Amino acid sequence: MHTEIVKIDNENIDTKKMEHLGKIIRDGGVVAFPTETVYGLGADALNSDAVKKIFIAKGRPADNPLIVHFARIEDISEVAHITDDAKKILEKFSPGPLTVILKKKECLGDTVTAGLDTVAVRIPENETARALILASKRPIAAPSANLSGKPSPTTAKDVMDDMTGRVDAIIDGVSCKVGVESTVLDMTGEAPVILRPGAVTLDDIKSLFPDATVDKHVLQAVSVNDKPKSPGMKYKHYAPDAEVFVVEGEREKIKQKINELICENKGKRIGVLTMGTSYPADVLINAGRDNREYAKNLFASLREFDRQGAEIVFAEFVSDDGYGLAVKNRLYKAAGNKIIYV
Ligand code: TXA
Ligand code: MG
Repeated sequence: MHTEIVKIDNENIDTKKMEHLGKIIRDGGVVAFPTETVYGLGADALNSDAVKKIFIAKGRPADNPLIVHFARIEDISEVAHITDDAKKILEKFSPGPLTVILKKKECLGDTVTAGLDTVAVRIPENETARALILASKRPIAAPSANLSGKPSPTTAKDVMDDMTGRVDAIIDGVSCKVGVESTVLDMTGEAPVILRPGAVTLDDIKSLFPDATVDKHVLQAVSVNDKPKSPGMKYKHYAPDAEVFVVEGEREKIKQKINELICENKGKRIGVLTMGTSYPADVLINAGRDNREYAKNLFASLREFDRQGAEIVFAEFVSDDGYGLAVKNRLYKAAGNKIIYV
């Protein structure tokens, strides 16, 4: 398949190009596009043949449902039942990096929701994403634009590496400012439950709903007998080719431990993902000073370790502050829950 690469300036969107991309979606094609969190792989959510193409392009298991993206809160009721509480939360944090799980309406096919009676909805903030939704005149179903199991893409180049030849078009747009996927919040129960942590934090949600909680599978591995609330939780995610270990605790102790691990693993090509400490590693990548920067750089760093042929990666993790839970969740998954506490 020929993949068109379309350059879009997020500050000054070319309406002609956008009309063209919108038409690809309306005609049942697949377009990769930037959002503020990660790049998405979009198709008409109301066209199940188009949605199937997304699953094929990614190699995604059919039982893992997609998020449906809208430009306006009012439009969500086309596919879902919005409760007053859900409206309250959407009005506070949308457009932005939040996805809400709601009861779905019949008109939405089973492919996009993987047969569940609920649907995930989100209103992205990124201007290019919004323009694409408006130009297509459709709700856009979109997972992250990576091959299934690979780190999510945060630049157009990452998307091109994974998706060239597999989709109709890739928007060559801005890098993603958040860098980890949206917070997924289940609003179908008694109280809101975070199924995937993101830039909208538990404290943010608690400011409206003090009884909000975080699902245990955010940090715990899913075992064979578990039936997690979000099908995506059971799949290995974000994994680079290298074997990843998280080294978690106090900064000084982490430093000492990683230096020991480097000595013990001599002979292997060693990578370290650091928050500023210097190490004698083959591939040393600085993830930033705080969790916000860490989130922004995390997936790009995991991809860079692959490009530089790291065989084993030690990733520092210091604190749960701010975006910390989102970072920790992605790191634990990348590491297959191999964590060294110090
Ligand atoms: O930031 C994001 O959310 C990005 C951008 C493109 O918007 N999208 C994204 O999609 O990360 P994806 O497909 O990679 O992750 C969606 C997650 C999966 O873990 C999936 O299982 C879960 O949301 N999900 C989707 N629909 C659900 C539902 N009805 N109930 C529970 N979980 C659901
Ligand atoms: Mg994904």
